[in-house]
Amino acid sequence: MNIQPTLAGLRAELDAHRRAGRRIGFVPTMGNLHAGHIALMRQARQHADVVVASIFVNRLQFGPNEDFDRYPRTFEADCAQLAEAGVDVLFAPDEAELYPQPQTYRVLPDPTHGDILEGHFRPGFFNGVATVVCKLFNVVQPHVAVFGKKDYQQLMVIRNMVQQLALPIDVQAGETLRAHDGLALSSRNGYLSAAERAEAPRLYATLQWLAEQIRLTPQHAADLEAQATQLLTQHGWQPQYITVRRRRDLHPPTSFSAATHSSTAHSAANSAEPLVILAAAFLGKTRLIDNLEV
Ligand code: PAF
Repeated sequence: MNIQPTLAGLRAELDAHRRAGRRIGFVPTMGNLHAGHIALMRQARQHADVVVASIFVNRLQFGPNEDFDRYPRTFEADCAQLAEAGVDVLFAPDEAELYPQPQTYRVLPDPTHGDILEGHFRPGFFNGVATVVCKLFNVVQPHVAVFGKKDYQQLMVIRNMVQQLALPIDVQAGETLRAHDGLALSSRNGYLSAAERAEAPRLYATLQWLAEQIRLTPQHAADLEAQATQLLTQHGWQPQYITVRRRRDLHPPTSFSAATHSSTAHSAANSAEPLVILAAAFLGKTRLIDNLEV
């Protein structure tokens, strides 16, 4: 695996691949890699001849009171995992390389996509994500890019950015990987104490409970969301949202009326359109997010 710390070095290497007609697959990350990231790398390999990963902890997407400074940086271990997974090129710029001047030109997602849910509780988050991803796309110029469904809203924002800005990139979604007890793999799980780690699977369990209840009595969605919130609160969580949304734009479903969407056993039998339940909650000082398509 070649490690490229500079834009010029990366461009030269990838230009040569493009001239040779090779397809480039890209997985951007902030490092502290786990099996979920590695699955995205392997997925990229299925669509590309050359797999490029990036590691860059993007200051623009962190709020002033968030964990930018203490975000785990594990570069050596990350490189070993990427090499083992057969990644060809790692782009690992420092801040001066990617942001040589203050990044005053930004990509602003549609507020109806970027200012709800995560964007509501983390103002400016999707501005920072869209800006860095657009910049990374311009440098890497991948044919295909893979993003995990764990960050469901991020995936939706990136897909819309690519479509609206006519970027010639095929965005693929990677399934969420979970620990044996259901906890979604996340770099932030490392912040949990042993007791919190034991409690953490309740987030996904609550999503599963809510999904089941919504299937049975979709007309009671609002009450059920409130019950799910209470369930978490009773166990010491501080939920920010736990809510049923349409998959396509993460807006509240217009209705839970007559069954039309029943292609899978797990579909929300009474919803007219595919839905997803999304949640964010603090467990102690650690903020966890998760989601479940229904
Ligand atoms: O999902 C992440 O790790 C980050 O938001 C991303 C896409 C690498 C942008 O910094």
